[in-house]
Amino acid sequence: MRLSPALAGQSTYPFVRLDEAKRRVAAQGVALVDFGMGDPREPTDERIQRALAEALPLTGGYPRAVGLPELREAVAAWCGRRFGVEVDPEREVIPTLGSKEAIFSFAQLLVDPEGGKDVVVVTEPGYPVPERGAAFARAEVVSLALSEKRGFLPDLDSVDDDTWRRAAVVWVNYPNNPTGATAPASFFERLAELAAEHEFVLASDEAYSELWFDEPPGSALQVRDTARVAVFNSLSKRSSMTGYRSGFVVGHEDVIAALRAFRPSAGTAPQEFVQRASVVAWEDEEHVEQNRALYARKRALLLEVLGRKGLRVAGSEATMYLWVASPDGEPSEAFAERLLEHGIVVAPGAYFGEAGEGYIRFALVPTEDECRRAVTILEDAL
Ligand SMILES: Cc1ncc(COP(=O)(O)O)c(C=O)c1O
Repeated sequence: MRLSPALAGQSTYPFVRLDEAKRRVAAQGVALVDFGMGDPREPTDERIQRALAEALPLTGGYPRAVGLPELREAVAAWCGRRFGVEVDPEREVIPTLGSKEAIFSFAQLLVDPEGGKDVVVVTEPGYPVPERGAAFARAEVVSLALSEKRGFLPDLDSVDDDTWRRAAVVWVNYPNNPTGATAPASFFERLAELAAEHEFVLASDEAYSELWFDEPPGSALQVRDTARVAVFNSLSKRSSMTGYRSGFVVGHEDVIAALRAFRPSAGTAPQEFVQRASVVAWEDEEHVEQNRALYARKRALLLEVLGRKGLRVAGSEATMYLWVASPDGEPSEAFAERLLEHGIVVAPGAYFGEAGEGYIRFALVPTEDECRRAVTILEDAL
């Protein structure tokens, strides 16, 4: 069977390899503490669960791609409270089935090789989905490295004008997975100026915007008057709701109009009972504060032992991740393998692209008790 070159050229999703390694070590009787994937394991707040259950009888029939007005209003109001921006729930918001599917398909809406828009810019190390989606849209992918010495921000001056001109979409992701770095407002301002000058869409993946420790990070929404901005956010990490699949895109009305035109064919409207539970989730901050406090406690436990053992933690200002430099230039897969033999599962930085080499990533998803057990293990293993 002939396959699309985009599918045939795709490497195995890295976490599939990690699962295989975990199975091998677990079969030898090693009890694992799993800091591998960023999938929160805390229970979803009971009020949200109840809202889902209560909405079940209300729903029959296909959900509409535009989403329920009450969800669009809850999202617009949340953006207003959180980022101080005024969002029109009618023209500037659309709900998504989690943010992954929307991130994956976004390039398909905008890439136009005949029209001279054939490039998608991504950052590396990074979440692989924007790049994979770009490949299926037959775009050329330009990958900008995030290096520790630049605070894990891409060097925008290294990109030539021709690339900017050809760019259909430029993706950024702050707070960043996997480095945990945040971006200053000036970074978004500069990118928005470039987006306006070269007519690309600034796509900002803000899935981790609510997992912060010192001060709440800003959003690309704050520069949306300058350029065509699309912000992707999600309840997955903020409210530990990965299984619900609920997110949104908020942005320029032209972008939302394009999504409204595309998404009915894709069949990716969230279920209405999920949308109704999502209204409750976006309207409440108390459970989010509890979530943040829990991550802060787990983070402190790990930071203490890593520091004492002389390991360097880079970035890691926000998100559920710790981005830790391998000791003495040890390759990231070898370091991760060494920890795995002791039962500590981490993701090697190389999984997130070549620029991730030299680091490993801890996702702070095990319970607090498991984190304490990990501290004891790391005491011996490091
Ligand atoms: C950077 C980033 N963006 C987006 C997502 C997608 O999350 P979801 O589809 O659950 O909203 C993830 C998930 O891990 C992520 O790490």
